[in-house]
Amino acid sequence: MKDFRQMKQRGEKITALTAYDYPTARLLDESGVDIILVGDSVGMVVLGYQDTTDVTLAEMLHHTRAVARGVRQALLVADMPIRTYETPAQAVETARRLVDAGAQAVKLEGGVNRAAQIEAITQTGIPFMAHIGMLPQTVREEGGYRIKGRTQSEIGELLADARAVENAGAFSVVLEIVLAEVAKQITNTIDIPTIGIGSGEHCDGQILVTHDLIGLFPWFTPKFVSPEARVAEEIRRAARAFIERTRSIGT
Ligand code: KIV
Repeated sequence: MKDFRQMKQRGEKITALTAYDYPTARLLDESGVDIILVGDSVGMVVLGYQDTTDVTLAEMLHHTRAVARGVRQALLVADMPIRTYETPAQAVETARRLVDAGAQAVKLEGGVNRAAQIEAITQTGIPFMAHIGMLPQTVREEGGYRIKGRTQSEIGELLADARAVENAGAFSVVLEIVLAEVAKQITNTIDIPTIGIGSGEHCDGQILVTHDLIGLFPWFTPKFVSPEARVAEEIRRAARAFIERTRSIGT
C-alpha cells in the first residue's frame, strides 16, 4: 500500500476512480490510478437503482470479486453498503467479508457518529477510508444531494467529523460536495489526505465515479464533473452501425 500520508506531505495529488467490473478495473489499473473504489454508486450507474440505499452486501461482494481480478497496482477499496455497519461488531464482520472478496481497504459513510465502527475496523488491521460531507446513503432523509459547509454549525460538524475519523485510524477521508473553502480548511487541519468529490481543488486528491468521467451514464451528470469522453455516444453509434449493417444484408 502506498504511503498516502507521505503523498500529502509531499504535495503529490492522489487519484481515485470507481470500478465495478473486471475490464474497467483492469483499464483503470493499467492507467496508473492510485485507488480504485468499488463504490456503492454501483447501485445507480450499473444496477439502475434510484440511489445507493438499495445496494446489498451480496451485490458489493459480487462486484468486489470482479474488480479484484483486474487490479494489480492500485489500492482496492470497497464500500460498505447501508445497514451493514450498525454496530462495531457488524462493521468488522462486513469489512472482513469485503476483504475476503478481494478488497484491500473498506469505506463507510459517517464521522463522529461512526467513530466506534471505524475504530473497531482499524483495530483489526483493515485499512479504512472515511467518507464525510454529503452522504449518499442519507439522501432520502436529506431530500437531495446538498452542498455541505454553508453554515458555521455545518463547518463545525465537518471539522469534528474529520478529526474523529483521523483519530479512529482512517488513512484518508473522502469529502463529498463540501464548499471548497471548507474543504481547504479541513485539508489543512488534519494529517491524513482528503480526497474530494465536488469539493474544489484544494483537497489532497480527487475521486470521481468513472461513469461520470467517461460519459457512460448520460442521463445524469453531476454539475461538478467535466467528462473526458462520451462513451455512451460511442456505444449508441456502434450499436446503430451493427443494426444497419445486419439489416442491410437481408435474408
Ligand atoms: O460510491 C461511490 O462511488 C462513492 C464515491 C462517490 C466517493 O462513494
